[in-house]
Order: sequence, then structure tokens, then C-alpha cells
Amino acid sequence: MDSKKTKIPQQTQSTQKPEPRVVAAIPCFNTEHFISDIVSRARKYVDQVIVIDDSSHDGTAEAARVAGAGTTSVQRDESFEIDVAAARDAIDARSKIIFVSSPNNPTGNIVSEEQVKDLLETGLLVVVDEAYYEFCGKTVAALTSEFENLVVLRTMSKWAGLAGLRVGYGIMSPKLIDHIIDIKQPYNISTVAEAALLASLEDAEALLRNVDLIVRERERMFSLLEGIPGVKPWPSGGNFVLCQFGLGRAGGIFEELAQRGIFLRKFSSSRLADFFRISVGTPEQTDAVILALAELV
Ligand SMILES: Cc1ncc(COP(=O)(O)O)c(C=O)c1O
Repeated sequence: MDSKKTKIPQQTQSTQKPEPRVVAAIPCFNTEHFISDIVSRARKYVDQVIVIDDSSHDGTAEAARVAGAGTTSVQRDESFEIDVAAARDAIDARSKIIFVSSPNNPTGNIVSEEQVKDLLETGLLVVVDEAYYEFCGKTVAALTSEFENLVVLRTMSKWAGLAGLRVGYGIMSPKLIDHIIDIKQPYNISTVAEAALLASLEDAEALLRNVDLIVRERERMFSLLEGIPGVKPWPSGGNFVLCQFGLGRAGGIFEELAQRGIFLRKFSSSRLADFFRISVGTPEQTDAVILALAELV
């Protein structure tokens, strides 16, 4: 496929509707692969990667570590907002990449353009993982025409349901694309993944209609969760909602739900000990989880 000019589908139902436009993009593997590829191929330049709190999706830090770079994790604040000052403080002479997810998994919140600009002004390569972009319509991709040190990563795993194929794309300045093409490994995504990617782009309208249904269901689930005393749902731009419970309560509720055949996502990090994440499913699945939570909490 033409690796430099790919039409990026725009999310249809959102608070912010970007104009359809053609941007410079290259197909790539998943986010972990992108980071490990850059780090290992540009090892003499990349010593350290700063990762803004990836308490659930920790593949990036792991990929950087395995590729031989040090990683520094910068915690988010008590509202899970990114802490730009702490990120700046974490930078030292070895730092080359700052990595942040937006919407973040599992907290669901979105970085603002201002926050990303603040990170870009450090001069480091800033990689924004927009794996859930289609579920919120908020993107910093437009900044790639202004900042040559910005990479926006997207995946076909979520909105197009191609998770098993590990295929996505990166949006960045043409100059940076040339550089990445220069250093990336010669093999690209598999032909099977490429066929699925192209078929999904052809079928983008129908796939984005599914995304709309998920977004509507997410908002319905959020309001229902808000109505259950003892559950605090966090607003989300992803296809999931993070729920907070009273001190020490989440583990027991999680087990009870599992006994009823309802399996949610809990976390090993101590910061998220009182939380679990509910993925948005069908309306029937939402009703079942809400009914069970109302009884258990
Ligand atoms: C923030 C984030 N980025 C990336 C991924 C994975 O994307 P891919 O399937 O392209 O590896 C996930 C998967 O859970 C994720 O939560």
C-alpha cells in the first residue's frame, strides 16, 4: 500500500468533528512495537523513555526496557490528569521520548492540546497513543503540521476490532516519517493484516456506526453507574468506564461478580486497588452488570 498518504477515517459522532483530511501516515505494528522498534534501531540516541503513568497498559515501558532503554514513569495527579511539571522534572540528558496515552487506559481521560504543546516544547519526541480516538473524537493530530517532534499513534484494534492482527498507523510530519522509514525494520505489517486494514478502511462508515452505538451505551452505563450509591464512575473517552469503590471494597465485589459470570478488569497497581474497569458491551450486558452491582455494593 502507499505508505505515505493514507486517508484517515474521521470519527462520526463526537463533540468535536474534525474535517476529513489526508495526512501523512505510515502503517505500523502496535504501540509497543513502535516504541521498541525506534528504541532498538536508534539505540545510540535513545537511552531513556518517559512514560506518563500507564498503570494498566504497561506494554510501552516494557517494550522500551526490553529494547535496552531506561524508563521513568511519571504519575498522574489525583484526578488522573497528566502532571506536566513532573514530566519536565523527570527529563535528564538521556531522555529522548515522552509517551502518553489519550484517552488513557483505564482512566478514560483525554490530554488537552495545551498539555501536549507543553510536552512538545521540551523538544523531546512526544508520542501520543490515541488507541481510543474514535470513541471520543478528540485528537492532537493537527499539531503534527506544527511540531516535527510529535507522533500520534492509532490502532485498528479497538474501533475496527482487529486486535489480533496488531495493525495501526502513525501520524507525523513528513520529515519524521522519512526518518522512521529510514530506521524501521524492513518488514512491515503482514499481508493478512494489510488486507484487513484496507477492508476496514473501505468499511469505515459501518464500523464507525458501531462505535457510535458503543459511545451511546457508554454514556447510558455511566448514568446508571452514577445512580448506584458507593460506585464512582469516571468520565471516559474510551470504550470502557473506570469505577471506583469504597476503601477495600473492589476486590470482594469483583469476586462476587465473577461468581455470577461477570468478568471485569481489575488492576495490580496499588493506586487502582479500589477500582475496576467495565468494558462497554451490549445493552443486555450493561443491564446485567448494573443489576448485579446494585445488589452487591
Ligand atoms: C492505550 C492503549 N494503547 C494500545 C493498545 C494496544 O493496541 P494494539 O492492539 O495496536 O497493540 C491498548 C490495548 O489495550 C491500549 O489500551
